[in-house]
Amino acid sequence: MIVPGEAASIHEAARLLATGDIVAFPTETVYALGADAANADAVAKIFAAKDRPHFNPLISHAADIGLLRTEVLFDDRAELLAAHFWPGPLTLVLNKHPLARGARITNAGLPSISVRIPAHPVALVMLEEFARIGSGLVAAPSANRSNMLSPTTAQHVAESLGRRVPFILDGGRTCIGVESTIIDLTGEIARVLRPGGLALERIEALIGPCARVAPGDKPIAPGMLARHYAPKKPMRLNATHATDDEAFLLFGPATANLGGRLRLNLSESGDTVEAAANLFDHLHRLELTDVAAIAVMPIPDIGLGVAINDRLRRGATP
Ligand code: TXA
Ligand code: MG
Repeated sequence: MIVPGEAASIHEAARLLATGDIVAFPTETVYALGADAANADAVAKIFAAKDRPHFNPLISHAADIGLLRTEVLFDDRAELLAAHFWPGPLTLVLNKHPLARGARITNAGLPSISVRIPAHPVALVMLEEFARIGSGLVAAPSANRSNMLSPTTAQHVAESLGRRVPFILDGGRTCIGVESTIIDLTGEIARVLRPGGLALERIEALIGPCARVAPGDKPIAPGMLARHYAPKKPMRLNATHATDDEAFLLFGPATANLGGRLRLNLSESGDTVEAAANLFDHLHRLELTDVAAIAVMPIPDIGLGVAINDRLRRGATP
């Protein structure tokens, strides 16, 4: 059931979390499927609803950094990044605090826990209310079936998960449109586990260069598996024209007719921030058409283009 993200339904969502139920809610990146991170039975419901493998750890969300301080150990780099970018599209993987309340299943028994404060008013009010009546910690992956496209509207959640999620808070279309950037700070060298809604350039300006995980490296985050975020149709990347059976996903000013049975533009002005916001939404729309395949124009590998290209590559992997 999709319910409007108003005071009464946000209150109901917090109550459901406190009683061990799962709820879908908007964040600024993508829609989330949440449960009380401190309640192992509740967290297990997330894995069941998504068909998610149990070895894949979840991000713990809270409205207040104070709650996260007893889950994970913040070093100077983490403090700096949190002060600049939270609430916002950044997830930090940090060493687990000895008194962490998060259930073992939340972080898949790892010595680290990933944490984030989302920047969506509906999410923040829900998390604040849940902190008054429960742990205030919400374990949440994106609210889609495992390996499928991430949801940027409440309707996407309903299409992907159906009756597996009885309660979907509607907060409109998400503004960032791709998942958070994940930085691993458990070791001396900061590592990018997933490029996302916060440009790496902005992170490196504060804490210096971060190591990139090279293609072919052993996956550290299961979200780094080669195939992920995939539409139900084959995708062809770096296309300069499209055939009559293909839809063409464009980027930048569309001048000449470059083919394709139908065309959607990620950003006519060539803005990677706008393109990220449109990415999953356009792919969802193309999934519902009867075109055989999707051709995608090259996207520059700077700013949020890095996250867009990462999702496109994984989505195009057979
Ligand atoms: O924007 C986002 O990050 C969204 C919204 C809902 O917050 N969440 C999200 O969660 O994308 P999910 O579960 O779809 O992706 C999180 C990724 C997974 O690939 C998971 O393996 C990785 O983060 N991850 C979580 N905890 C980790 C940890 N302790 N160490 C390494 N990787 C971790
Ligand atoms: Mg996901």
